[in-house]
Amino acid sequence: MEVIIAPSAGEASAEAARIAATLIRAKPNAVLGLATGSTPLEFYRQLIDMHARHGLDFSRVTTFNLDEYVGVAPDHPQSYACFMRAHFFSRVNISPDRIHLPDGLARDLPAHCAAYEAAIREAGGIDLQLLGIGSDGHIGFNEPGSSLGSRTRLKTLTGQTVRDNARFFASPEEVPRHVITMGVATILDARRCMVLAFGESKAQAVAGMVEGPVTASLPASALQFHQRCTLLVDEAAAVQLKRVDYYRWVYANKPDWQHP
Ligand code: PGA
Repeated sequence: MEVIIAPSAGEASAEAARIAATLIRAKPNAVLGLATGSTPLEFYRQLIDMHARHGLDFSRVTTFNLDEYVGVAPDHPQSYACFMRAHFFSRVNISPDRIHLPDGLARDLPAHCAAYEAAIREAGGIDLQLLGIGSDGHIGFNEPGSSLGSRTRLKTLTGQTVRDNARFFASPEEVPRHVITMGVATILDARRCMVLAFGESKAQAVAGMVEGPVTASLPASALQFHQRCTLLVDEAAAVQLKRVDYYRWVYANKPDWQHP
């Protein structure tokens, strides 16, 4: 796994946006796996800026989001569909028919999840999957204990995640308990994964993901099996990593042809 420790979350996000932009310029019909949460906000701002200033073209890009709350309509202000429209989709020239999110109101959830997997396959697979990491080590909403072979399905959130997300809802009771999420194996199928993690609250999960044993108890650790996973952290999220000097050394000596 490539570990990039940036001086700040802003610089890590800028590097992540450069990686995505380089892909889109090289492959205008790229398939992006996208994430919500507070972590990727600056990443999206950077891409919007590249679109506005440098004409970065999203017209042929296809997107698949990681997850959506069950029972929450796409026009609910806390739905991930709404989040994506507000923070990204409405600000770039992406074609609405190329945007995919799980449908939190789907009646037949197993059939809907299978169709989501099929749609990813039909699009040619995900070229670049953006990921955050939960303080409990989840990726997507694959909570601790998730099968490392899992596919898109219904998951029940942990109490910790419900508490983490409560800040976005009027009251803790309103926070949904269930989500549809891509599985760990769905994520591992992406050709490249890019994880963003900022702040000391993520430091323990980050250390487990990079240096801990691979375990379903920390689903992000499954990324150790991925051939091309880049982790971008700020200094605070890196404080529990043991091989920090080596990661900095590797990045400082990264051959030009490997950038970004
Ligand atoms: P956050 O969530 O970006 O809001 O911290 C990350 C996650 O839960 O994957």
